[in-house]
Amino acid sequence: MYDFKPDDALDTAERYRQLCDAADALTSDEPDAVANMANVAALMWEFLPDLNWAGFYRIAPAKSGADELVLGPFVGRPACIRIPLDKGVCGAAALSGETQLVDDVHAFPGHIACDAASRSELVVPVTRDGAVVGVIDLDSPSPGRFTDEDASGLKKLARLLSGRV
Ligand code: SME
Repeated sequence: MYDFKPDDALDTAERYRQLCDAADALTSDEPDAVANMANVAALMWEFLPDLNWAGFYRIAPAKSGADELVLGPFVGRPACIRIPLDKGVCGAAALSGETQLVDDVHAFPGHIACDAASRSELVVPVTRDGAVVGVIDLDSPSPGRFTDEDASGLKKLARLLSGRV
């Protein structure tokens, strides 16, 4: 049995440090990307408060042959399966390779509402050999839930997962 439950009193930096340690422990010897994303989605849900969605989208070819994002393992409500790279917060992160920290999703042009409860969002690209291979997506029902400290912590997690998802 794995028991990675975090202490409620952890500050944000320590919370992400422990999340990264737990993710490293669960993924370092496991070559299966789906298993690794599934466990890391569960860990993000356990470690990060005030979320309504936590998971992955991965770059894959669309029927047209162009790249798009395809839903990966997550915790939360069922979500849109395919996202073109020129759409939504996730598409913006994947296309630009830049973290997207959105305080108010209603003010983000082209935001895709998978769960009407979502109010703020943090999306970090996962790269391998310099190319974006997917994104980590966190949604919160609270406006302005995510800070630069969250972005920095999630980027560390994304770096750790390069080559494992
Ligand atoms: N809101 C995202 C879509 C994915 S869901 O939040 C799970 C977006 O605008 O790309």
